[in-house]
Amino acid sequence: MSRLFKVCSKEEVPAGTAYSYQVNNVVVAVFNIEGQYYAINDACPHAGASLSAGYLDGCVVSCPLHAWRFDVRDGTWVDNPCIATDAYPVTIQDGDLFIEFKEPQPE
Ligand code: FES
Repeated sequence: MSRLFKVCSKEEVPAGTAYSYQVNNVVVAVFNIEGQYYAINDACPHAGASLSAGYLDGCVVSCPLHAWRFDVRDGTWVDNPCIATDAYPVTIQDGDLFIEFKEPQPE
């Protein structure tokens, strides 16, 4: 089961930029790559730096602290694809961006 949460309007994230937003108690980095929107967890899994403040090269963001590189399309750590940060599907409704969170499953 999953739920949609509104993040911001499309205009808040121009092409080639990224911004962070708190959504459902998670800080999410939203990227606009040539008009396509992607969202991953903003906290770098290495030491917590803000990935939205990183350097963007195509679909890859480099962490501003130690340059770990993540594919913003699916959160994969480019240098070790066995590891990924959380990625969230983005949808657009009436000019606003929404992201989808999966509900935690009971153990
Ligand atoms: S905090 Fe991101 S690479 Fe170290």
